[in-house]
Amino acid sequence: MITVNDLSRSFSRRRGDGPLRVLGNISFELKDGEFLGIIGPSGCGKTTLLKILAGLSRYDDGDIRVNGLPLTGPGPDRRMVFQDFALLPWRTVAGNIEFGLEPGGMARKERRRRIDEALALTGLAAFAGYYPYQLSGGMKQRVGVARALAVGPDTLLMDEPFGALDAQTRRLLQEDVLRLVEGTGKSVVLVTHDMDEAVLLCDRIIVMGAHPGRIVAEIDTTAELARPRRGRVEEVKKLPAYQRLVGEIWSLLALHGEPGPVEVDAGRGSIIAGNAGGGGVSTADDA
Ligand SMILES: Nc1ncnc2c1ncn2[C@@H]1O[C@H](COP(=O)(O)OP(=O)(O)OP(=O)(O)O)[C@@H](O)[C@H]1O
Ligand SMILES: [Mg+2]
Repeated sequence: MITVNDLSRSFSRRRGDGPLRVLGNISFELKDGEFLGIIGPSGCGKTTLLKILAGLSRYDDGDIRVNGLPLTGPGPDRRMVFQDFALLPWRTVAGNIEFGLEPGGMARKERRRRIDEALALTGLAAFAGYYPYQLSGGMKQRVGVARALAVGPDTLLMDEPFGALDAQTRRLLQEDVLRLVEGTGKSVVLVTHDMDEAVLLCDRIIVMGAHPGRIVAEIDTTAELARPRRGRVEEVKKLPAYQRLVGEIWSLLALHGEPGPVEVDAGRGSIIAGNAGGGGVSTADDA
């Protein structure tokens, strides 16, 4: 379980400009075994938020707890899957998976066991000896997922993991991830640009607005779209509830997605921006 309370993050900028406030007042909860989606306009801080959760990036204010303890850095309980795969080209598939296991001083036999398990879970058993240049994009992303899984994390942090893939490969990998999550009880935070993907895969979806990146709504899909969804993707997509949920996210993004005029808040030295508000959709801004 991860709880995020009133998180904010700014980046310093050049030429005497005030800091750029990228994330502000972010609060949410990730329950054990939950599949949480994050969707929002480009630049609203999704990757920054994921890196903070992974312990790879610091934050300025707020409180993040992992199973009740303050987050202090990266840990084997949380692993990130990167959009660009981030594989080591000089290592084989098995070697790439092993890479994440080396720092802990794990016994060779245990490493071998975990590699085999991760290969089997991701359908890569026949490709252990292949190098990244010999793999398709979909297979590379499977290696990215296998490498994260081998560490045995409770939570996978996935940053647009299917963004670079064609529609068919994407669909197959979505099915893989559904099988993985619904079968193992792991938690996932999935950053995506794709409304269909978010509704199809996630239990709950956080919709973000930009400048600064903030949560504008949280949408629960579980009441209307039952699990398991693996093997039923095409069926789920035909449900009126599915289409309504996609439409709801679309409206929210249309309302909050366009970055407003950016200006520097001289008082606090941060960038603020106007954004259309109001409307008929209930959002966190209304609170
Ligand atoms: N290390 C950094 N130094 C300065 N600014 C940064 C840094 N990392 C990110 N930013 C800025 O923070 C903002 C949010 O970036 P981030 O990559 O988190 O956005 P995002 O929501 O993931 O966007 P996208 O959907 O395009 O991937 C951007 O304005 C970006 O320029
Ligand atoms: Mg990003």
